[in-house]
Amino acid sequence: FGAAQVLVASNRGPVSYEVREDGSLRAKRGGGGLVSGLSAIGPDTGALWVCSALSDGDREAVRRGVGEDGVRMLDIPADVHADAYNGIANSVLWFVHHMLYQTPLEPVFDAEFRRQWASYETYNRAFAQALAEEAAQGAAVVVQDYHLTLVPGMLRELRPDLRIGHFSHTPWAPPEYFRMLPDDIAGQVLRGMLGADRLGFLTRRWADAFTACCERFAGGLGGTRIGVHGLGADADFLRARAHEADVEERIVALREEIGTAPDGTPRRTVVRVDRTELSKNIVRGLLAYRQLLEDRPEWRERVVHVAFAYPSRQDLAVYRDYTAEVQRVAEEINERFGTPGWRPVVLHVKDDFARSLAAYRLADVALVNPIRDGMNLVAKEVPVISEAGCALVLSREAGAHEELGEDAVTVNPYDVTETARALHEALTMSPADRAERAKRLAAAATALPPARWFLDQLDALRDGARD
Ligand code: G6P
Repeated sequence: FGAAQVLVASNRGPVSYEVREDGSLRAKRGGGGLVSGLSAIGPDTGALWVCSALSDGDREAVRRGVGEDGVRMLDIPADVHADAYNGIANSVLWFVHHMLYQTPLEPVFDAEFRRQWASYETYNRAFAQALAEEAAQGAAVVVQDYHLTLVPGMLRELRPDLRIGHFSHTPWAPPEYFRMLPDDIAGQVLRGMLGADRLGFLTRRWADAFTACCERFAGGLGGTRIGVHGLGADADFLRARAHEADVEERIVALREEIGTAPDGTPRRTVVRVDRTELSKNIVRGLLAYRQLLEDRPEWRERVVHVAFAYPSRQDLAVYRDYTAEVQRVAEEINERFGTPGWRPVVLHVKDDFARSLAAYRLADVALVNPIRDGMNLVAKEVPVISEAGCALVLSREAGAHEELGEDAVTVNPYDVTETARALHEALTMSPADRAERAKRLAAAATALPPARWFLDQLDALRDGARD
């Protein structure tokens, strides 16, 4: 047995390495809720984070035996990792849970898929073996996300003494959609997950969909318990970070790009910040903004759509194409409506967290319109940071809608006309109404900060016995 009492497993870990020109390694800390959640537990608790080596720098760090206390990176062969991560996790499981297969030509589960699935099994087994080595007798292990659905079952076989949890950061597909997977694969995924004592989801909706899939295709949940933990924004961290010098600099630059209306008042802003991810629905958001300018000429020159779309999963052609489409549509709007003094869409595609926070601070309206989303933390972060108390246009398909829906302007993400109307409604909301709602949004958004979110899962895992 190993020494760790608490273990976390996820594909992406809290740190990554770059090889500098002189050959030395530079460590970069990752962001995100899970990272802040676990950091809050602290290294002295003996917690260990098992993750994949993702970059060349990461692999080099593993080879040189360089690493941080509390982190173990697995150097899974690059081709196996690529099949598992790009082929299965991001092209199949992500698409199923976000219901993104919308053409008659996709998906195709053929021999190539089977080959990639074998890599997915190998990759999951590497995690299960590392966790089995590192875990102390009776330790608690929390496995994260769709990359690692087989780990709970594999680990249970290796180490029946462990408390095993799994947490899904994505939606879960309803049975009618999930059954698109080949029967044996669907069964493997469900049985893999049901190897856990406890499964966590971000909302009741995704938890119910998972339960329904188990009832239909796996004869029920067995002894596995289900919990809902709605990860919230980290208000203290965000408020402090949003006032650091680099953010102040970005505010000045962004104000310059936004400019002022012909009457001299500052232009209103519709802000969105996303990874350029198919489920985020950035193109329909742009089309809705175009329709707003078309239908309501009074907004021309008076509003700017600040859209940050940061590269994601660029190894996949469909993501690269989507990024190009976002840029094309933004350019088209600027050509159609722009004037010498007004750029209707300010689009940035280079990842810059300080600039995102600057945009949050300047937001009058936040646009969050995903086709489907496990939670969506942007919807929770902007109301906490926006100085004017922003209005929120929110897709009913985002997990965050369960918590924030009452004070947001709700849209069906496919309905561009409704989204254009919602933008108008948000832009014309009375300042008093907007401020009241923004206050309630911020309170709901910060109800379960990351550290609490993680500890709640751990407590629940330790409390309940497998029955
Ligand atoms: C989003 C999802 C997570 C997922 C992560 C992976 O944050 O909400 O469920 O784990 O993306 O992103 P990556 O960049 O590692 O593919």
